[in-house]
Amino acid sequence: MLNIAVFVSGRGSNLKSLNESVIKEKIRICAVVSDKENCGAVSYAIENQIPVFLVSQNNSNKYFSYEELLGQFKKIKIDLIVLAGYLKKIPNEFIDEYENRIINIHPALLPKFGGKGMYGINVHKAVFDSAEKISGASVHFVDKIYDNGKIIAQSFVDISRLKSPEEIAEKVLVAEHKLLPFVVEKFADQKIVINQNRIIIAD
Ligand code: GAR
Repeated sequence: MLNIAVFVSGRGSNLKSLNESVIKEKIRICAVVSDKENCGAVSYAIENQIPVFLVSQNNSNKYFSYEELLGQFKKIKIDLIVLAGYLKKIPNEFIDEYENRIINIHPALLPKFGGKGMYGINVHKAVFDSAEKISGASVHFVDKIYDNGKIIAQSFVDISRLKSPEEIAEKVLVAEHKLLPFVVEKFADQKIVINQNRIIIAD
């Protein structure tokens, strides 16, 4: 069984697609972590009885510090952390503790269109303005630099006929909803192989 924690800040459509499509005998969503109490993703977690951990760098009764969260993760034995629209930077202690066990979904073809401030519609606007013909979704390992970790998998979307960043967002989101569950299942099956600089997904 692969125990996962999903970090969210927004609408939660990737959380929903993960929850609905992964095989429950293999993968358990043990925690949803958010920096925002009022967002679609947290409401979805509550409705689906997934434990929610609110996290903040400031002290508050309601919120866990990242250090406390790390303690909780050890207790509930989290194997893999999945960032699905989480907009805060993950502290370095987490990255050291979960080396090659934190993944992020990004709504473009990295290494282009990544980095600080590149999230959600900002990404699609940049892609649209650069007149790219192809966009897509990337799942990559998280390291200490925004959107810099090794790419695990990508899917491609033909955007040559699309007329706005919003249309690109819509098409790419459909690809994201397939790609993220696919990669998480590969982790559960131990099919993600790190071979020096390349990540290989075995059949
Ligand atoms: C997704 O499109 C995800 O790729 C993006 O935020 C959206 C969250 O949507 N993440 C980033 O831009 C990270 N740089 P969701 O809350 O509906 O899953």
